[in-house]
Amino acid sequence: MASEKKVIEIKNVKTYVEQTKVFDGFSLDISLGCSTAILGPNGAGKTTLLKLLTRDIYPVYSEGSYIKILGQDRWNIWELRSRMGIVSDYLQANYPYYAIGVNVVLSGYYSSLDTWSHQEFSKDKIEKAEEIMEMLGIENLRDREFSRMSTGQQRRFLLGRALINQPEVLVLDEPTSGLDLKSSFQYLDIIRGLISNGKTIALVTHQIHEIPPEVSRVILLKDGAVVLDGEKDSVLTDSNISDLYGIGVKLIESKGFYQAMPA
Ligand SMILES: Nc1ncnc2c1ncn2[C@@H]1O[C@H](COP(=O)(O)OP(=O)(O)OP(=O)(O)O)[C@@H](O)[C@H]1O
Ligand SMILES: [Mg+2]
Repeated sequence: MASEKKVIEIKNVKTYVEQTKVFDGFSLDISLGCSTAILGPNGAGKTTLLKLLTRDIYPVYSEGSYIKILGQDRWNIWELRSRMGIVSDYLQANYPYYAIGVNVVLSGYYSSLDTWSHQEFSKDKIEKAEEIMEMLGIENLRDREFSRMSTGQQRRFLLGRALINQPEVLVLDEPTSGLDLKSSFQYLDIIRGLISNGKTIALVTHQIHEIPPEVSRVILLKDGAVVLDGEKDSVLTDSNISDLYGIGVKLIESKGFYQAMPA
Protein backbone atom coordinates (compact mmCIF):
# COMPACT_ATOMS: atom_id res chain seq x y z
CA MET A 1 0.00 0.00 0.00
CA ALA A 2 1.37 3.43 -0.91
CA SER A 3 2.25 5.38 2.19
CA GLU A 4 0.51 8.63 2.94
CA LYS A 5 2.31 11.58 1.37
CA LYS A 6 4.26 13.60 3.89
CA VAL A 7 5.47 17.16 3.88
CA ILE A 8 8.11 16.18 6.37
CA GLU A 9 9.15 13.06 8.24
CA ILE A 10 11.63 13.61 11.02
CA LYS A 11 12.97 10.55 12.75
CA ASN A 12 15.07 10.65 15.86
CA VAL A 13 17.16 13.71 14.95
CA LYS A 14 19.61 15.77 16.90
CA THR A 15 19.97 19.39 15.88
CA TYR A 16 22.23 22.18 16.99
CA VAL A 17 21.88 25.88 16.29
CA GLU A 18 25.42 27.17 16.74
CA GLN A 19 26.36 25.71 20.15
CA THR A 20 22.79 25.22 21.38
CA LYS A 21 21.36 21.72 21.23
CA VAL A 22 17.74 22.30 20.26
CA PHE A 23 16.55 18.78 19.38
CA ASP A 24 17.70 15.41 20.61
CA GLY A 25 15.87 12.24 19.56
CA PHE A 26 13.17 14.38 17.96
CA SER A 27 10.54 12.79 15.70
CA LEU A 28 7.58 14.35 13.91
CA ASP A 29 5.57 13.86 10.72
CA ILE A 30 3.36 16.29 8.90
CA SER A 31 1.15 14.82 6.17
CA LEU A 32 0.40 16.61 2.95
CA GLY A 33 -3.07 18.11 3.24
CA CYS A 34 -2.99 18.34 7.04
CA SER A 35 -2.49 21.99 7.87
CA THR A 36 -0.74 22.28 11.19
CA ALA A 37 -0.12 25.02 13.73
CA ILE A 38 2.85 24.88 16.08
CA LEU A 39 2.68 26.76 19.35
CA GLY A 40 5.18 27.14 22.14
CA PRO A 41 7.09 29.57 24.31
CA ASN A 42 10.04 31.65 23.09
CA GLY A 43 13.04 29.42 22.53
CA ALA A 44 10.97 26.21 22.28
CA GLY A 45 12.48 25.27 18.91
CA LYS A 46 9.65 26.30 16.56
CA THR A 47 11.79 28.31 14.16
CA THR A 48 14.45 25.60 14.24
CA LEU A 49 11.81 23.04 13.26
CA LEU A 50 10.70 25.14 10.29
CA LYS A 51 14.33 25.67 9.29
CA LEU A 52 14.75 21.90 9.12
CA LEU A 53 11.82 21.87 6.73
CA THR A 54 13.24 24.62 4.51
CA ARG A 55 16.78 23.23 4.73
CA ASP A 56 18.18 26.35 6.30
CA ILE A 57 19.72 23.99 8.84
CA TYR A 58 20.58 20.30 8.89
CA PRO A 59 20.57 17.84 11.79
CA VAL A 60 23.66 16.10 13.04
CA TYR A 61 23.94 12.71 11.41
CA SER A 62 23.40 9.69 13.62
CA GLU A 63 22.49 6.12 12.87
CA GLY A 64 18.79 5.51 12.31
CA SER A 65 17.94 9.17 12.11
CA TYR A 66 16.64 10.88 8.98
CA ILE A 67 14.62 13.73 7.60
CA LYS A 68 12.55 13.34 4.48
CA ILE A 69 10.91 16.32 2.88
CA LEU A 70 8.13 15.71 0.37
CA GLY A 71 9.23 12.08 0.33
CA GLN A 72 12.91 12.67 -0.43
CA ASP A 73 15.94 12.84 1.80
CA ARG A 74 18.09 14.66 -0.75
CA TRP A 75 17.12 17.90 -2.37
CA ASN A 76 18.41 20.66 -4.53
CA ILE A 77 17.41 23.38 -2.10
CA TRP A 78 16.31 25.77 -4.84
CA GLU A 79 14.00 23.16 -6.27
CA LEU A 80 12.70 22.37 -2.81
CA ARG A 81 12.12 25.99 -1.89
CA SER A 82 10.35 26.70 -5.17
CA ARG A 83 7.75 24.17 -4.00
CA MET A 84 7.32 26.02 -0.73
CA GLY A 85 6.17 29.51 0.14
CA ILE A 86 8.16 30.82 3.07
CA VAL A 87 7.52 33.83 5.29
CA SER A 88 9.70 34.40 8.33
CA ASP A 89 11.66 37.03 10.24
CA TYR A 90 14.79 35.25 9.16
CA LEU A 91 13.94 35.74 5.48
CA GLN A 92 12.91 39.34 6.12
CA ALA A 93 16.16 40.10 7.94
CA ASN A 94 18.24 38.51 5.18
CA TYR A 95 16.35 39.88 2.19
CA PRO A 96 18.50 42.24 0.07
CA TYR A 97 17.71 45.78 1.18
CA TYR A 98 18.09 47.20 -2.35
CA ALA A 99 15.49 44.92 -4.02
CA ILE A 100 12.53 46.84 -5.36
CA GLY A 101 9.00 45.81 -4.42
CA VAL A 102 7.85 44.14 -7.62
CA ASN A 103 11.07 42.12 -7.77
CA VAL A 104 10.55 40.87 -4.22
CA VAL A 105 7.27 39.34 -5.35
CA LEU A 106 8.71 38.06 -8.65
CA SER A 107 11.63 36.43 -6.84
CA GLY A 108 9.12 33.90 -5.50
CA TYR A 109 9.08 32.20 -8.92
CA TYR A 110 12.68 31.11 -8.40
CA SER A 111 12.84 31.31 -4.57
CA SER A 112 15.74 33.65 -5.03
CA LEU A 113 16.66 36.70 -3.01
CA ASP A 114 15.92 39.60 -5.38
CA THR A 115 15.67 38.84 -9.10
CA TRP A 116 18.62 38.15 -11.38
CA SER A 117 19.27 39.13 -14.98
CA HIS A 118 19.27 35.51 -16.20
CA GLN A 119 15.77 34.92 -14.83
CA GLU A 120 12.90 35.34 -17.24
CA PHE A 121 9.59 36.88 -16.39
CA SER A 122 6.87 36.61 -19.00
CA LYS A 123 4.07 39.14 -19.32
CA ASP A 124 1.83 36.65 -17.51
CA LYS A 125 4.22 36.40 -14.58
CA ILE A 126 4.46 40.16 -14.24
CA GLU A 127 0.68 40.50 -14.44
CA LYS A 128 0.31 37.89 -11.73
CA ALA A 129 2.75 39.82 -9.52
CA GLU A 130 0.70 42.95 -10.11
CA GLU A 131 -2.51 41.15 -9.18
CA ILE A 132 -0.96 39.89 -5.96
CA MET A 133 0.40 43.32 -5.02
CA GLU A 134 -3.05 44.74 -5.59
CA MET A 135 -4.65 42.04 -3.46
CA LEU A 136 -2.17 42.81 -0.67
CA GLY A 137 -2.59 46.58 -1.05
CA ILE A 138 1.05 47.23 -1.90
CA GLU A 139 0.86 48.05 -5.61
CA ASN A 140 1.77 51.70 -4.88
CA LEU A 141 5.10 50.46 -3.46
CA ARG A 142 6.13 48.41 -6.48
CA ASP A 143 9.19 50.59 -7.17
CA ARG A 144 10.14 51.17 -3.54
CA GLU A 145 13.35 49.65 -2.17
CA PHE A 146 12.81 46.95 0.45
CA SER A 147 14.86 48.89 3.03
CA ARG A 148 12.57 51.90 2.59
CA MET A 149 9.38 50.04 3.49
CA SER A 150 7.82 49.69 6.92
CA THR A 151 8.08 46.32 8.66
CA GLY A 152 4.50 45.41 7.81
CA GLN A 153 4.91 46.50 4.19
CA GLN A 154 8.00 44.31 3.87
CA ARG A 155 5.98 41.45 5.35
CA ARG A 156 3.26 41.88 2.78
CA PHE A 157 5.81 41.78 -0.04
CA LEU A 158 7.23 38.56 1.40
CA LEU A 159 3.75 37.12 1.59
CA GLY A 160 3.28 38.02 -2.09
CA ARG A 161 6.60 36.31 -2.83
CA ALA A 162 5.42 33.20 -0.97
CA LEU A 163 2.10 33.06 -2.80
CA ILE A 164 3.08 33.81 -6.38
CA ASN A 165 4.34 30.37 -7.32
CA GLN A 166 1.23 28.69 -5.90
CA PRO A 167 3.31 26.39 -3.74
CA GLU A 168 1.88 23.15 -2.37
CA VAL A 169 3.26 23.93 1.09
CA LEU A 170 3.40 27.22 2.96
CA VAL A 171 5.90 27.53 5.78
CA LEU A 172 4.89 30.48 7.90
CA ASP A 173 6.90 31.58 10.93
CA GLU A 174 4.92 34.29 12.71
CA PRO A 175 3.72 35.51 9.32
CA THR A 176 1.68 38.43 10.62
CA SER A 177 4.35 39.96 12.78
CA GLY A 178 4.26 43.68 12.03
CA LEU A 179 1.00 43.53 10.07
CA ASP A 180 -1.79 45.87 11.07
CA LEU A 181 -5.20 44.43 11.92
CA LYS A 182 -6.65 44.84 8.44
CA SER A 183 -3.60 43.29 6.75
CA SER A 184 -3.49 40.38 9.16
CA PHE A 185 -7.19 39.67 8.61
CA GLN A 186 -6.68 39.89 4.84
CA TYR A 187 -3.73 37.53 5.14
CA LEU A 188 -5.92 35.18 7.16
CA ASP A 189 -8.54 35.17 4.41
CA ILE A 190 -5.87 34.33 1.84
CA ILE A 191 -4.51 31.49 3.95
CA ARG A 192 -7.99 30.10 4.55
CA GLY A 193 -8.62 30.09 0.82
CA LEU A 194 -5.34 28.31 0.17
CA ILE A 195 -6.07 25.59 2.72
CA SER A 196 -9.53 25.12 1.22
CA ASN A 197 -7.84 24.72 -2.16
CA GLY A 198 -5.74 21.86 -0.88
CA LYS A 199 -2.50 23.63 0.10
CA THR A 200 -0.77 22.54 3.28
CA ILE A 201 0.23 25.15 5.83
CA ALA A 202 2.83 24.72 8.56
CA LEU A 203 2.23 27.73 10.77
CA VAL A 204 4.15 28.94 13.79
CA THR A 205 2.39 31.69 15.64
CA HIS A 206 2.04 33.36 19.01
CA GLN A 207 -1.32 34.74 17.93
CA ILE A 208 -3.83 32.03 18.77
CA HIS A 209 -6.60 34.04 17.11
CA GLU A 210 -4.72 33.77 13.82
CA ILE A 211 -4.94 29.99 13.62
CA PRO A 212 -7.31 29.51 10.68
CA PRO A 213 -10.37 27.37 11.49
CA GLU A 214 -9.27 25.10 8.62
CA VAL A 215 -6.12 24.10 10.54
CA SER A 216 -6.92 20.69 11.95
CA ARG A 217 -3.81 19.78 13.91
CA VAL A 218 -1.99 21.65 16.66
CA ILE A 219 1.42 20.74 18.04
CA LEU A 220 2.63 22.15 21.35
CA LEU A 221 6.40 22.42 21.55
CA LYS A 222 8.50 23.17 24.60
CA ASP A 223 12.23 22.82 25.28
CA GLY A 224 12.77 21.04 21.96
CA ALA A 225 10.12 18.39 22.58
CA VAL A 226 6.53 17.83 21.51
CA VAL A 227 4.41 18.06 24.64
CA LEU A 228 1.10 17.54 22.89
CA ASP A 229 0.03 16.81 19.33
CA GLY A 230 -3.48 16.23 18.09
CA GLU A 231 -6.78 17.56 16.82
CA LYS A 232 -7.04 21.29 17.35
CA ASP A 233 -10.14 21.11 19.55
CA SER A 234 -8.55 18.64 21.92
CA VAL A 235 -5.20 20.47 22.14
CA LEU A 236 -6.48 24.03 22.51
CA THR A 237 -7.84 23.84 26.03
CA ASP A 238 -7.35 26.21 28.96
CA SER A 239 -5.27 23.73 30.91
CA ASN A 240 -3.05 22.65 27.99
CA ILE A 241 -2.20 26.22 27.03
CA SER A 242 -1.78 27.30 30.65
CA ASP A 243 0.64 24.40 31.21
CA LEU A 244 2.52 25.19 28.01
CA TYR A 245 3.25 28.78 28.98
CA GLY A 246 3.25 28.33 32.75
CA ILE A 247 0.62 31.00 33.25
CA GLY A 248 -3.16 30.95 33.59
CA VAL A 249 -4.81 31.21 30.17
CA LYS A 250 -8.48 31.15 29.28
CA LEU A 251 -9.41 30.33 25.71
CA ILE A 252 -12.56 31.53 24.03
CA GLU A 253 -13.79 29.86 20.86
CA SER A 254 -15.88 31.60 18.24
CA LYS A 255 -16.69 30.32 14.73
CA GLY A 256 -13.67 28.04 14.70
CA PHE A 257 -11.27 30.75 15.92
CA TYR A 258 -9.71 30.80 19.38
CA GLN A 259 -8.70 33.77 21.45
CA ALA A 260 -6.48 33.68 24.54
CA MET A 261 -7.21 35.78 27.61
CA PRO A 262 -5.57 35.88 31.04
CA ALA A 263 -7.36 33.38 33.31
N1 LIG B 1 21.76 31.88 16.19
C1 LIG B 1 21.66 31.18 17.32
N2 LIG B 1 22.75 30.85 18.05
C2 LIG B 1 22.64 30.11 19.18
N3 LIG B 1 21.48 29.65 19.66
C3 LIG B 1 20.37 29.94 18.98
C4 LIG B 1 20.38 30.72 17.78
N4 LIG B 1 19.11 30.84 17.32
C5 LIG B 1 18.35 30.19 18.22
N5 LIG B 1 19.09 29.64 19.20
C6 LIG B 1 18.60 28.86 20.36
O1 LIG B 1 17.92 27.73 19.88
C7 LIG B 1 16.78 27.45 20.68
C8 LIG B 1 15.56 27.36 19.81
O2 LIG B 1 15.35 28.61 19.19
P1 LIG B 1 14.18 28.85 18.15
O3 LIG B 1 14.54 30.09 17.38
O4 LIG B 1 13.91 27.62 17.38
O5 LIG B 1 12.96 29.15 19.14
P2 LIG B 1 11.45 29.58 18.82
O6 LIG B 1 10.57 28.53 19.40
O7 LIG B 1 11.30 29.89 17.38
O8 LIG B 1 11.31 30.89 19.72
P3 LIG B 1 10.57 32.30 19.42
O9 LIG B 1 9.13 32.11 19.85
O10 LIG B 1 11.26 33.24 20.33
O11 LIG B 1 10.72 32.64 17.98
C9 LIG B 1 16.74 28.56 21.73
O12 LIG B 1 17.29 28.05 22.91
C10 LIG B 1 17.61 29.65 21.17
O13 LIG B 1 18.21 30.39 22.18
MG1 LIG C 1 10.94 31.62 16.32
